[in-house]
Amino acid sequence: MEQLTFFELAKLLISFAVLAPSGHNSQPWSFQVVDNEIIITPDYSKRLDVVDKENRELFISLGCAVQNLQTAARHFGYNSDYIYNDGKIVVTLTKQDVCNDDPLFDAIKKRHTHRGSFTGEKIPANLLQDIKNEENVSFMIYDSQSRESEIIKRKIAEGNEIQMSDTAFKRELISWMRFNKKQVNETHNGLCYNVLGFPATPKPIGRKIVGMFLNPKAQNKTDAAVNASASHFCVFCVKENNVQNWIDLGVFLERFLLKITSDGLSYSFSNQPCEIPSLNQNLQQELAVNHYPSVIIRVGYGKEPKNFAPREEVVVRN
Ligand SMILES: Cc1cc2nc3c(=O)[nH]c(=O)nc-3n(C[C@H](O)[C@H](O)[C@H](O)COP(=O)(O)O)c2cc1C
Repeated sequence: MEQLTFFELAKLLISFAVLAPSGHNSQPWSFQVVDNEIIITPDYSKRLDVVDKENRELFISLGCAVQNLQTAARHFGYNSDYIYNDGKIVVTLTKQDVCNDDPLFDAIKKRHTHRGSFTGEKIPANLLQDIKNEENVSFMIYDSQSRESEIIKRKIAEGNEIQMSDTAFKRELISWMRFNKKQVNETHNGLCYNVLGFPATPKPIGRKIVGMFLNPKAQNKTDAAVNASASHFCVFCVKENNVQNWIDLGVFLERFLLKITSDGLSYSFSNQPCEIPSLNQNLQQELAVNHYPSVIIRVGYGKEPKNFAPREEVVVRN
């Protein structure tokens, strides 16, 4: 690689960081480069007031971005550390003496949230088992036919009953939907028609149609089909509900998502039971876990996406 200035290198790494997943594809981050550090600040203008009152998913998304940044840094010959301090994540980069590439680098551009059902094929157990828990983060993996998965499926259905009857939740969700190419090109964020597999429509018509389909019955029918086709469910938990733990969870989660992507697997989120405090508590009790469930994903085999979710052009300050 030609010799880059540190600022050019940082911009390159940030272009991988922003490929991380985020709630509603809100991309709630901003970046600054100072000396040998990349500073990631939450962009609260993108916060999801209704579904994510505590900013838990916002900080998990930032953690996912940190993982991409660190994975890309290793690929380009840098070690990195991150700390959360004074409301910001500071990633410090140091040049490696010996270049240790990261085997998951190629997965950064391939990772995507699967939309729709899986093929129904079972994943061999050994593919999912070699990831260890960390100090602040733990995760459980359950066969989709297991007793625990039945509990999770029940909680997803209960979550849909609550969320899809909540006008504020639906209003927020629809506000992040992009119904046609013009809207996608204007925003480069949000949940886009061509990623979700809908035909393009003028915005007012799209809002009306989606509004009609956002109800507990329709959502439960869709989720039941996806749940039945998944091979496994994974629950990611934090030891304590605080920002540091949420960031650490995001870092861990994204590593897991990159790993399963590089193994040819697909996943989708089904976070309803974590987003509603009463259900979250029930889920913790019924699964008999000590830590706090924070993210639920379904894993299986799926087709390549026709379209990837768009990303905003990043402005990097120095
Ligand atoms: C913390 C977190 C929570 C999420 N929750 C959901 C969810 O409940 N349902 C869903 O369909 N997608 C969920 N997503 C996935 C985002 O919608 C997705 O990452 C975003 O649209 C960008 O698409 P991509 O992952 O394909 O790049 C979540 C993502 C994150 C990081």
